[in-house]
Amino acid sequence: MAGKRLSAKEALRQKSMLCEGLNFAASEAYKLLRTNLQFSLPEKNCQVIGITSSVRGEGKSTTSINLAYTFAQSGKRVLLIDADMRLPSVAAKLELKSTPGLSNLIAGLRNEGHCIRQSAQFNNWYILPAGDIPPNPSELLGSERMHTLLQHYEEIFDVVILDLPPINIVADALVISKWIDGLIGVVRQNYTDRRALADCMYQVEKLGSHFLGFVMTDAAVGESGYKNYSKYGKYGKKYGYGYDYGYAYDNAENSSKTSDSKKKAFLDAAVEESVSVEPKEEEQKTDE
Ligand SMILES: Nc1ncnc2c1ncn2[C@@H]1O[C@H](COP(=O)(O)OP(=O)(O)OP(=O)(O)O)[C@@H](O)[C@H]1O
Ligand SMILES: [Mg+2]
Repeated sequence: MAGKRLSAKEALRQKSMLCEGLNFAASEAYKLLRTNLQFSLPEKNCQVIGITSSVRGEGKSTTSINLAYTFAQSGKRVLLIDADMRLPSVAAKLELKSTPGLSNLIAGLRNEGHCIRQSAQFNNWYILPAGDIPPNPSELLGSERMHTLLQHYEEIFDVVILDLPPINIVADALVISKWIDGLIGVVRQNYTDRRALADCMYQVEKLGSHFLGFVMTDAAVGESGYKNYSKYGKYGKKYGYGYDYGYAYDNAENSSKTSDSKKKAFLDAAVEESVSVEPKEEEQKTDE
């Protein structure tokens, strides 16, 4: 298994913040986020959502994984792409092999079957890890080849979620924002600098893109009766409906312009050829 090794305690902590490890309140907050997104995004065959933040360590990858999990839970065909090629973490968090992945795919060195993994949780949830760390992530993400890949995935999946690097640190998220239907900003309480956030929003808007809304992470428990929410106390509540609220909500019946057989053929091929789908070990439940 690739990725940096975590201590047993840290691994357990991380698991309690991801997927089936989430407590009831946190899991409900992600479902609320999913619902809000379905109302905010344009109605189309596949929605492409980017998760970013102003600086590092605000909870982008955790949010991306849990959002992808929650969409998959509702039956959507989901592809989660780790587009943070400088500091990838999705594969490590999900205990998947991290290479080959996106960088290898864009560079044309590997095919999809080698790079896309099926999640251990749902057979309709796929993950494209970041791959080998390239010298030029911005160029790769902004390349025509990346655009073509995204267009291809829009034909195959119902939802594509990109875990992006932070806006204020590198240009990666900005160069790809033009191909994304909606950006979600992650803001960590008592951590994110107000000016950094303003700068981040300015940069996004300057490019003609915008945030659909924000997710606050690591929020303190308030007086609002969310005592059991622990660190996710205000998670759902802080999610903004954003500027595009009211576009449309997802309609499962209309969401499939591409024939089901085409999608199925692609997904079957990806799994069949995949070299690295690792069975997930039985997890310890960590809910208190
Ligand atoms: N809602 C949350 N409440 C408390 N801690 C959280 C929350 N979301 C993430 N974390 C913790 O914050 C740390 C950073 O999370 P994560 O890796 O998701 O951030 P990131 O924005 O992707 O970081 P990077 O910029 O390095 O990629 C992790 O230890 C994670 O467990
Ligand atoms: Mg990350």
